Amino acid sequence: MKGVSKVVFPVAGMGTRFLPATKASPKEMLPVVDKPLIQYAVEEAVAAGATDLVFITGRTKRAIEDHFDKAYELETELQARGKAAMLELVRNTVPAHVNCIYIRQPEALGLGHAVLCAAAVVGDEPFAVMLADDLLHNPDGAPVLKQMVDVYNYHRCSVLGTMNVPREDTRQYGIVSTEAQRGAVQRMTGIVEKPDPASAPTTQAVVGRYILTPRIFDHLRKLTPGAGGELQLTDAIASLLKEEAVLAHQYDGVRYDCGSKLGYLKATVEFGLRHPEVSADFKAYLEARFAEHLAA
Ligand code: G1P
Repeated sequence: MKGVSKVVFPVAGMGTRFLPATKASPKEMLPVVDKPLIQYAVEEAVAAGATDLVFITGRTKRAIEDHFDKAYELETELQARGKAAMLELVRNTVPAHVNCIYIRQPEALGLGHAVLCAAAVVGDEPFAVMLADDLLHNPDGAPVLKQMVDVYNYHRCSVLGTMNVPREDTRQYGIVSTEAQRGAVQRMTGIVEKPDPASAPTTQAVVGRYILTPRIFDHLRKLTPGAGGELQLTDAIASLLKEEAVLAHQYDGVRYDCGSKLGYLKATVEFGLRHPEVSADFKAYLEARFAEHLAA
């Protein structure tokens, strides 16, 4: 079977937790310092070897297509003003060898339905799914999707990125059960979408990174509404793992849940503290504010 070259980005969600910011613009375009969330995800995909990016879009998502497209007026303007560095930034939102493909999801019927919308483009190949509001950062090694592609290339079966969460948070995630733990990669025995803390089988949660074999599409086609009345990717994976191996990979790195206000603020602070242009001033500001706060 071929390697992983296609990545699906389901970006049709409404982003209600960030209203009114997301009334007319996509939540995936919220910036962390100076880059939109979707660009962090695209960079992670490209670093893992992706060459075809498949965006499953919906209404109010035009800005994503524009972001990865050529911006004639802006480029002409920056060129005329001799702003070479800015021109580079604008031109390099996606490398030239990478294709962007856009598919419209007419109705938001759930993550499983969004992924199924990519079936014709993905074809008979393994592929990745990335949820851009999970911003994953691994300062000391390979980006998370690359880690998972390496696991896929070795084992040649589906791989889900997972992390441990506090038990009270299980109802926000797909929760996996695995065979006895031996290292960071384990064979899954089950997965359930957003269980109550009291009944959650484990506290190992799926974050927004999946590598899936094309068999998943057969299972997605058979889906009936699950948690929240939606067609859930988790349910299709539960069905897939009855016929082929699915692995859970506890990735190396830090996750910022940029689908929530608090996670988004944490990401902004962390990336601000690391950003070469503002880090020193931002650190001084935070220290002063903290001292003021303690004195109050
Ligand atoms: C989705 C998935 C869930 C997964 C989560 C990770 O849920 O359905 O299984 O754990 O992403 O962020 P959502 O956050 O879209 O409700």
